[in-house]
Amino acid sequence: MSQHELVLDTGQGSGAVSEGRRRRSRLGLVVTGVVGGSLVALYAVAAPFVAPALRRVCLPFVPATTAQVENVLRVLRTRTGTLVDIGSGDGRIVIAAAKCGFQASGLELNPWLVWYSRYKAWREGVYRSTSFHISDLWKASFAQYSNVVIFGVPQMMDQLEVKLANELPSSAKVVACRFPFPTWVPESTEGEGIDTVWVYDAKTFRSDLHRKTGKTLLEQKSHPHS
Ligand SMILES: C[S@@+](CC[C@H](N)C(=O)[O-])C[C@H]1O[C@@H](n2cnc3c(N)ncnc32)[C@H](O)[C@@H]1O
Repeated sequence: MSQHELVLDTGQGSGAVSEGRRRRSRLGLVVTGVVGGSLVALYAVAAPFVAPALRRVCLPFVPATTAQVENVLRVLRTRTGTLVDIGSGDGRIVIAAAKCGFQASGLELNPWLVWYSRYKAWREGVYRSTSFHISDLWKASFAQYSNVVIFGVPQMMDQLEVKLANELPSSAKVVACRFPFPTWVPESTEGEGIDTVWVYDAKTFRSDLHRKTGKTLLEQKSHPHS
């Protein structure tokens, strides 16, 4: 090989090498972008499902069974008006209640579940008689609802008793799914095993609260610490 050929050959070789390097670094950037983007997307989707487990009261997304939903509707069959499902999950109870004529709302911490519930309500033709709110149940007021459904966990039921007894009108009914309230006396129950639901009358649990505290609710509100 002449010296001239050798120079040309070496030049082409280094050009090919640097082109190869450029290609590899482009590929590296694409792979990093795709992996990074996927991780961010995965985190955005998964975080709202994991977050409830990290709260003081862990209330995870566990959807009601078909029998549970049927039991809720059965015990509320003579009722009308507004209904709220506290922690409404994928909206199945709210949508089923709207189909039975209720003006039904869901309160839910997980935004993905709220958006999915709105989509499902629209698809099933009950968009107008449902509403879904991204909201923390402990910060919401339930004063406007005449029917309340809760599928909670035992650790939260005592606190929720106090909140609902203070906020609900005397005409309200509360339906607890799977776990009953600890001190309220149910007026009826429906179903069995994990599908059991308990029905409570607000007149009863509100007057029990008055008896225990010896004060009217108005007095408690005006002098909460006296
Ligand atoms: C056991 S699931 C019940 C779902 C639905 N009610 C059903 O019966 O199919 C409880 C739901 O409450 C939601 N949740 C947990 N903590 C909450 C909070 N602080 N405020 C509102 N919703 C909450 C969870 O994301 C979950 O979807």
